[in-house]
Amino acid sequence: MENKRPVDMLRIETEELAKSFIDEQIKSIKEQVKDKKVLLALSGGVDSSVVAALLIKAIGKQLVCVHVNHGLLRKGEPEQVIEVFKNQMDANLIYVDASDRFLDKLKGVNEPEEKRKVIGKEFIRVFEEEARKLENISFLAQGTIYPDILESGPVKAHHNVGGLPEDLKFELVEPLKFLFKDEVRVVGKTLGLPDNMVYRQPFPGPGLGVRCLGAITRDRLEALRESDAILREEFAISGLSKKVWQYFTIIPDFKSTGIKDDKRSYEWPVIIRAVNTRDAMTAEIEEIPFSILKKITDRITKEVKGVNRVLYDLTPKPTGTIEWE
Ligand code: XMP
Repeated sequence: MENKRPVDMLRIETEELAKSFIDEQIKSIKEQVKDKKVLLALSGGVDSSVVAALLIKAIGKQLVCVHVNHGLLRKGEPEQVIEVFKNQMDANLIYVDASDRFLDKLKGVNEPEEKRKVIGKEFIRVFEEEARKLENISFLAQGTIYPDILESGPVKAHHNVGGLPEDLKFELVEPLKFLFKDEVRVVGKTLGLPDNMVYRQPFPGPGLGVRCLGAITRDRLEALRESDAILREEFAISGLSKKVWQYFTIIPDFKSTGIKDDKRSYEWPVIIRAVNTRDAMTAEIEEIPFSILKKITDRITKEVKGVNRVLYDLTPKPTGTIEWE
């Protein structure tokens, strides 16, 4: 198939257009796949979730979804994937909790690109092992979208860590490959996926791994996950989640002194990052109301074990990147 979006293809901006796109895709997926099985790495991100929902509609249990929990996902994410796809959509879903494996491999690795490589390679290894356990898989579904093909997408450009070995090269099913992100969201919404899955902020493949700075430790990772959950909760309550493109916390690998329960503490700080951007190539920091910053600081320092300070990063991109690693 050609890798160019057809010139006469309408932009999918309405539910009606999404419905006809879905109908067309169901037809062509059925023609392509026939009675064969299709494998999908389902991360729970927008693109793979929409592909999953579309394929479940088209071929039901012929789709085998594999959700690999690399231990670097945000709080509640694996649970939501299981709830939405297994419980609600009755998908054929294999859940692999590989957290220990990833964290063992990452022990002592502190260089950002090295961390990405370890995570990427291990991910492929785990996925490969799962694929080998299955029989009669003929196709691999992927959440490729048009910006990935145009290679202007800064997000998936980071995924370059090699692929599955030759003997596991399946024919590809890429139903979203001519869609832009906003169109994927309309399709996802029309397919009945929950708003917090369809409209969620970008989340890097290496996940919390590049936000737990330096060599990852379990205690700091846990503090990072909890502080990120508080930040997301407060952004949702205040409506900021609809205005800010990407927002998250970061935990550095140094401590500072403080006072907790009338005693001296020596604990980690947590950094808040909240940016707006059009294409992730440049970004501006968001002006967050002071009262919200204070509330988040108060909650994080009270509720998160091992954290005694909260900082707000005021750096645009450039000079800072959006992520800290
Ligand atoms: P930076 O930090 O380069 O981030 O300003 C730009 C956008 O890309 C995301 N990002 C990644 N996404 N794998 C990904 O899938 C990665 O390794 C990765 N690194 C950064 C980042 O979250 C932001 O949206």
